[in-house]
Amino acid sequence: MLTLSDSMMMRFWLFTCLIFKPKLANQILRPTIQINYSLNLSKWLYFFIFEDMTALSKRIHALAESQTIKMAKMGRDLAAKGIDIINLSFGEPDFNTPDYIKDAAKKALDNNFTFYTPVSGYPELRKAITEKLRVDNNLSYDSDQIVVTTGAKQALANALLCLVNPGDEVLIPTPYWVSYSEMVKLAEGTSVFIPTTVEQNFKITAQQLEQAITPKTKVFMFSSPCNPTGSVYSYEELAELAKVFEKYPEIYILSDEIYEHINFGDKHESIAQFASLKERVILINGFSKAFAMTGWRLGYLAASKEIAQACDKMQGQITSGTSSIAQRAGIAACEGGLESVLKMKAAFLKRRDLVYGLLKAIPGIKTNLPSGAFYFFPDVSSYFGKSANGEKINDALDLSLYLLNEAHVALVSGDAFGDPNSIRISYAASEEKLSEAMKRIAAALAKLV
Ligand SMILES: Cc1ncc(COP(=O)(O)O)c(C=O)c1O
Repeated sequence: MLTLSDSMMMRFWLFTCLIFKPKLANQILRPTIQINYSLNLSKWLYFFIFEDMTALSKRIHALAESQTIKMAKMGRDLAAKGIDIINLSFGEPDFNTPDYIKDAAKKALDNNFTFYTPVSGYPELRKAITEKLRVDNNLSYDSDQIVVTTGAKQALANALLCLVNPGDEVLIPTPYWVSYSEMVKLAEGTSVFIPTTVEQNFKITAQQLEQAITPKTKVFMFSSPCNPTGSVYSYEELAELAKVFEKYPEIYILSDEIYEHINFGDKHESIAQFASLKERVILINGFSKAFAMTGWRLGYLAASKEIAQACDKMQGQITSGTSSIAQRAGIAACEGGLESVLKMKAAFLKRRDLVYGLLKAIPGIKTNLPSGAFYFFPDVSSYFGKSANGEKINDALDLSLYLLNEAHVALVSGDAFGDPNSIRISYAASEEKLSEAMKRIAAALAKLV
């Protein structure tokens, strides 16, 4: 027989109240469901009432859906209805994988590289990665300190699952990449956010870092160049952070360097270069962004032998080694030089400058000049409280939905990245599309009064 728990009774009570007070329901539910009330109310209420009866774990209920993937899907759905959507919600280069890499994959198939691989990756690929780290980053690793993963995403998840115990705190500067906080939840850790603003170019100071550290701090994780802000930490800024970490030898550092090659400033700087920290830095990188290989699912981590071994063990029970074909292609990517990467970077730089000029001309938008990656993360809070077509814009989510419906431009709300005042604009699109999108955005924003 089904017995109703107190929480279920409570839910039925709330449910009844909400049914009779739809306005109140809207206010309470919106922050939770994040997206249009009417679209999701039934789904949410189903979950709200019947959660105790579903077979799904608390873990999966606690996890947020990826807003970047969701927004991209909403854009695609509207496009499928024949609406001319410009999709600037994507987190991937719009270039094809270079031919020499594709050729290596074709050859791999012909040569029957179709069997399971060692969990941490083919020895030749791990060797090629150590060589890359030596040449590009002046960092010395042995092959057994490298774990090849199914995208950088798995490298991040591996590291967190191997390091974080329930209740451990993980420091994350905001804005951060969408999956960080959700991965911390999966590892049963607690995310502790260090806020930054557009005025400080979205970078934390050493003082902010030190203030956030508690006896429970286990990991600090960040990306530079950063998704979503495009900010890049300089050598001097990293050195300041390193001085703080030297005082706290129990803290590990997850340094996500997936946008290393899309850096418009001086050379890329890794926090792993500080000898006093190297053993505690888990360097995360991959092929997705630099070589336009998002679909190949190829990333890696470089860490102390102890951590690398732990990640090998973790991965061995979840996915084993990543695709044999992608790995053979990865060797070609490592050994093929950076010519194609530099071409893509030059294209991104031109687009950045184009979008920067157009964004700056829109009244009420505050933006930094990103030094890397391929995103803008403008503060749009000056539009909150304004209305158009009888619809009030309360927050960045409302604004991104308004821009989708009114300007037919898909973007991602800043909430997904831990900053409710901003929106993320990806400029991984042609200059023509970017100019048109900015024109439409400016026109739609001008209608808000
Ligand atoms: C900051 C950051 N880290 C990691 C990843 C994951 O990359 P991959 O495609 O290699 O899993 C992304 C992808 O968008 C990212 O933006």
